[in-house]
Amino acid sequence: MKKINEGKLVRDFALANPRIRKALESLGIDTCCGGGKPLVDAVREAGLEMDTVRARINEAAMEAEAKPEEKQKRDWLQASLTELTDHIENTHHAFLRVIFPRISERFWKVIKAHGENHGDMLRDVQSTFDGLREEIEAHLMKEEQILFPYIREMSIALAAGKPLPPMHCGSVANPIRQMMHEHDNAGAALSAIRKRTSDYELPDDTCPTFAGLYKDLQALEADLHEHVFLENNILFPRAEEAENSSGKV
Ligand SMILES: [Fe+2]
Ligand SMILES: [Fe+2]
Repeated sequence: MKKINEGKLVRDFALANPRIRKALESLGIDTCCGGGKPLVDAVREAGLEMDTVRARINEAAMEAEAKPEEKQKRDWLQASLTELTDHIENTHHAFLRVIFPRISERFWKVIKAHGENHGDMLRDVQSTFDGLREEIEAHLMKEEQILFPYIREMSIALAAGKPLPPMHCGSVANPIRQMMHEHDNAGAALSAIRKRTSDYELPDDTCPTFAGLYKDLQALEADLHEHVFLENNILFPRAEEAENSSGKV
């Protein structure tokens, strides 16, 4: 079996190729909010054996070598920070602004039709979703109005060899820490929803609207996962690295 550096961060393995990322996630290792942990810690916390994880990583790496055409469509590690922030806003933030109101509306319809048999479960899930929506809507504003514009300005200044613009939060690491904390909360809310819906298993007596609600909640989970993966594992570390390399902090 090929040796791997167990002290490397989970994100380094996940970013190497999508198959390794998938393999880690299928083992229960969180590559999204947990991307900044050394692999050895993530394996221990997930209650796994390092030999099992090493075997899966090697297997996924071999599969990826056999299919080089599968490489990520866009290598965000190579894009400018401006391109990456634009991509996040135009795809993931835009998606949330469409799906959040649609899910809220679906909840009302489904609770009206199925409240008698599934009211307790549906109201629990709705309440978790409402909390998630409220926090993430405010989160998007903070990213779009404060953090991302600063990262863009920083990227332009660095490319021009100019000093970094002043940051009223001191260091870019401060708002990033807050954003990552809010990502953790969102991850916990999505896990709670998944658990309360028994992994989105539809009850027997449901209708297409009920199925549509579950489909949207799963689409929300998948997209937020991808969104947080890009921010926690690529955008934020690169922004902090850029700040550090400028000698500002
Ligand atoms: Fe975001
Ligand atoms: Fe975010």
